[in-house]
Amino acid sequence: MTETIFITGADKGLGFSLAEKFLSEGYHVFAGQYITRERLQLLVERFPQTLTIVPLDVSDEASVSQAARTVAGLTDALDVLINNAAVYLEGARPVLEDDTGAHWLRTLDVNALGPLRVTRRFLPLLERGRRKLIVNISSEAGSIADCWRDREYAYCMSKAALNMQSRILHNYLTPRGFTVLAVHPGWMRTDMGGPDADLDPAESAAGIFALVTRDWSPDDPIYVDYQGRPMRW
Ligand SMILES: NC(=O)c1ccc[n+]([C@@H]2O[C@H](COP(=O)([O-])OP(=O)(O)OC[C@H]3O[C@@H](n4cnc5c(N)ncnc54)[C@H](OP(=O)(O)O)[C@@H]3O)[C@@H](O)[C@H]2O)c1
Repeated sequence: MTETIFITGADKGLGFSLAEKFLSEGYHVFAGQYITRERLQLLVERFPQTLTIVPLDVSDEASVSQAARTVAGLTDALDVLINNAAVYLEGARPVLEDDTGAHWLRTLDVNALGPLRVTRRFLPLLERGRRKLIVNISSEAGSIADCWRDREYAYCMSKAALNMQSRILHNYLTPRGFTVLAVHPGWMRTDMGGPDADLDPAESAAGIFALVTRDWSPDDPIYVDYQGRPMRW
């Protein structure tokens, strides 16, 4: 039977590469789309039967609820959720020398609260799924133990909060048969990562596909990089 996956922020960057990878492996992909972009529309032409685009703003409760209703109208169960959507709104200067910090709340809202909104609304579908897997795309920037930065407060704080969210969800959902992961995808050549980054997002997507399709036990480390190597909280 075809496996189903919902990916947020799938219109570009890692989210797009994940959608392409899972489609090419035979999954039915529900692709959360924030802004309409041609690339994702073109992917529908390649995978007309198995790609469904779902409008989604993870910062808007009504949008998240509507997206969950839309998906529930098309499938009884969801096997995997990947919370990938995020923003990076920091300027190049240390924020304490910056002006207003106007982007702080937006960053926390999208990156930390967005995944919780989505998980909450999609949980009934995931409960009926076979894999029962939630992947939160985190970052090494969320590690307190290995923090080296002297700026990027909001982004790093949002990913540290996402890590805590992942751990609490793990505690809550593991007894119900779920696996919850917080995955650092590597430094990728996307709009967020910039042109000098190490990885093509397709390489990261291939690693994350391997993580999704392997077996997990409740005692395994859950904060890992895209190759499955444990990260320090
Ligand atoms: N790039 C890196 O080196 C790197 C490193 C570590 C972790 N990460 C993490 O990896 C994930 C993917 O990053 P990326 O590099 O692919 O970033 P990206 O190219 O900037 O893509 C981010 C995606 O999130 C979407 N998005 C933004 N705000 C949204 C909202 N309110 N609701 C729904 N979707 C929204 C964007 O939609 P629009 O295009 O329509 O705005 C886009 O599809 C993120 O969680 C990021 O924090 C990235």
